[in-house]
Amino acid sequence: MTSRFDNKIALITGGTSGIGLATARRLLAEGAHVVITGRDKTRLDAAVEELDGGDRVLAMRGDAASLADLDALTAAVQDRHGRLDVVFANAGVASFQPIGDVTEAEFDRVMDINVKGVFFTIQKTVPLLSDNAAIVINASWTLHRGLPAASLYSATKAAVHNLTHTLAAELGPKGIRVNSVSPGYIETAMFHDALTDEEKSAVVPEVVSGRLGTADDVADAVAFLASQEASYVNGQDLIIDGGLVAAIPGAA
Ligand SMILES: NC(=O)c1ccc[n+]([C@@H]2O[C@H](COP(=O)([O-])OP(=O)(O)OC[C@H]3O[C@@H](n4cnc5c(N)ncnc54)[C@H](OP(=O)(O)O)[C@@H]3O)[C@@H](O)[C@H]2O)c1
Repeated sequence: MTSRFDNKIALITGGTSGIGLATARRLLAEGAHVVITGRDKTRLDAAVEELDGGDRVLAMRGDAASLADLDALTAAVQDRHGRLDVVFANAGVASFQPIGDVTEAEFDRVMDINVKGVFFTIQKTVPLLSDNAAIVINASWTLHRGLPAASLYSATKAAVHNLTHTLAAELGPKGIRVNSVSPGYIETAMFHDALTDEEKSAVVPEVVSGRLGTADDVADAVAFLASQEASYVNGQDLIIDGGLVAAIPGAA
């Protein structure tokens, strides 16, 4: 029996925890070779051990916002695999504060990772992409619905979501599809660091599905968009949020 990602080569930036690690696990289970990145060597080593994929896992330490690191990454992928079939531009950081508290340094840090990182990850990997390759960008529900204190974070996510439109048009003639996912409240390290316990309990009733999301919920959607099952899905954003953006919870 064949799997959706047999012999496919997938790059997942920020693959050492949360949504990136869950996606690596999912694609690996479906036959892919995965390349994961992250800035922390200890976390990379732990992810490799957890994935337990032998030579089907390549871990590369690097900062998604560094063009030199991206060059080293693409050279290593070229060397090991010679091509990429899937790019999940997932690496990102949270930043929540009222607009008046956003410093120039914080603006630059978050733009660098969340926008510049995604932009140049795609630019640098396009030459390696095979025919019918798929790019998936990790955006956020907050680009669809205003969240106080999220002006900087949401602006970065709106920017990378916009790339799906332009790049779907630009790369379409090469057979490359470009989509994004917009996760809702997903229980990862980022979510736990950003919210107090009180805030976490307060957000659950906002979700029509009545629960927080899991990294696997998002990985399932990324795997779909990256697979041939989504061969006619292009330039789209798939919101995985249990209905947070679209509907108001409550009985009729
Ligand atoms: N959790 C949510 O509720 C939620 C909702 C909407 C969107 N998202 C998006 O989902 C993505 C993944 O977040 P997550 O929730 O899975 O958080 P997470 O568990 O904190 O994972 C973030 C991953 O990105 C890596 N990373 C961060 N900055 C990086 C950089 N400059 N270069 C390379 N790797 C970097 C981290 O590793 P190192 O720190 O070791 O580098 C880690 O592997 C982010 O883009 C986030 O904005 C999350």
